[in-house]
Amino acid sequence: MQQREQWGTRVGFVLAAIGSAIGLGNIWRFPYVAYENGGGAFFVPYLFAMLTAGIPFLILEFGAGHKYRGSAPQIFAKLSKRWEWVGWWQVLVCFVISIYYVAVVGWSISYLFLAFNQGWGADTGDFFFKEFLALSDGPLNVGGIRWPIFASVVAAWGICWFVLFKGVKKGIETASKIFMPILFVMVLIITVRAVTLPGSHEGLNWLFKPDFKALLDINVWVAAYGQLFYSLSIGFAIMLTYSSYLPKESDINNNAFITAFANCGFSIISGILVFSVLGNMALNQGVGVDKVVKSGVGLAFVTIPKAINYLPSPVFFGTLFFTALIFAGLSSHISICETCVASLMGKFDLNRKKAVTIYCLLGLFTGTIFATNSGLYILDIVDHFINNFGVLTAGLVEIIMLAWFCKLETFQKHINRTSDFAVGNWWLFCLKFVTPLVLGYISVAKLIEDIRVPYGDYPADALFYFGWFVVVMVVVIGFLLQTTTLMGKGAAKSPVESNR
Ligand code: ALA
Repeated sequence: MQQREQWGTRVGFVLAAIGSAIGLGNIWRFPYVAYENGGGAFFVPYLFAMLTAGIPFLILEFGAGHKYRGSAPQIFAKLSKRWEWVGWWQVLVCFVISIYYVAVVGWSISYLFLAFNQGWGADTGDFFFKEFLALSDGPLNVGGIRWPIFASVVAAWGICWFVLFKGVKKGIETASKIFMPILFVMVLIITVRAVTLPGSHEGLNWLFKPDFKALLDINVWVAAYGQLFYSLSIGFAIMLTYSSYLPKESDINNNAFITAFANCGFSIISGILVFSVLGNMALNQGVGVDKVVKSGVGLAFVTIPKAINYLPSPVFFGTLFFTALIFAGLSSHISICETCVASLMGKFDLNRKKAVTIYCLLGLFTGTIFATNSGLYILDIVDHFINNFGVLTAGLVEIIMLAWFCKLETFQKHINRTSDFAVGNWWLFCLKFVTPLVLGYISVAKLIEDIRVPYGDYPADALFYFGWFVVVMVVVIGFLLQTTTLMGKGAAKSPVESNR
């Protein structure tokens, strides 16, 4: 049995956790979600969600990883032999996310090169969909591989492979110590530039103008909690894995607060950046900000490039923006992959170098589908389903198991023993009641919604193959992996019983 790797410094761990949390979700999802759900008023449910679910759950995952020191399946197997599949379920969710997440990092790499001469032209929508992606007429019409995109994706996998190959301390920690400060500085520079653009204040008005009526709408609260889980990388085994590399005497609680607040701060700064640029673009086009605002892929690869075209220094802005997107995306992608790599190492007793190489090749190979002519459609479907019925549902099962079937007070004692400050009854209450109730409500509501109104305008068979089938298979394969005998090593004792 190999000795478990460890972070070299506290700062290294915190930066890696922040690097995992801050990702594409902060830059392209948060600003739009906030704008759509009450603007300035959205910060009320968002902060509430952070204090009642995000931070408590993060503390719990940090604590469980630190206490049981293993990959996610090993941690669940240590709690009860019958629970290993939950860990595998989360790991498989990570696998699915990693293969499409890296495609977006690949597009960002391509766009970084285009940013040097605004190679996306004047009609950025036409360029992105027709020339760059060469999108087919539907998800099932896969066409062929888009080789320039494939090449960028290979580059993204290459960087990830290199970092993971080097290990936790020399690879992930060093990369986080380089990526994160540079990312913060870059985003601050472009934000300062963005808020001084003409029209920016109008954009910011749209983002921050509070609509307090929105607070009465349950969907606004659902949006706040949903955004937070994905953004904090909780519920899909990442933080369990990262904290399993903490040395014995490590702070848990304060680190979770720092990670959550850094993530939240970064989201707000991204919102200011995006809406300042949108305000400027709206002014240049003589339209309202509501006419130019978009989310997700459309925001990053259509709207922002268009906005960059109008700026006085497009090369400066464009290169910094896409480099920031690459850094934010890569640091999250690395954490997602490490979760899977650690599980492979634990299950099959592989050394890191072998596990990393196998995983990256497998990811590259299976992810090729996202570099085809129908890649964007498939990505959109998989992303929707895996977020709603993978991340959130697996998170719900995890919280029920840890908060109801294990003795939460045992975790509390464990984390308070080494932390800078202790957490009290509010922590127990939030995890036992608030988080499961909210996650339960969201999961059921999303399920009903998806059954009643099929997602997007996609054909039913595409939704079946890339949506429902995928979310069911990750659970089924999770069970199958539990039944294979190779593991066992970490599953020897079952503290669930002794925890009761
Ligand atoms: N937490 C990562 C993000 O927000 C996965 O993109």
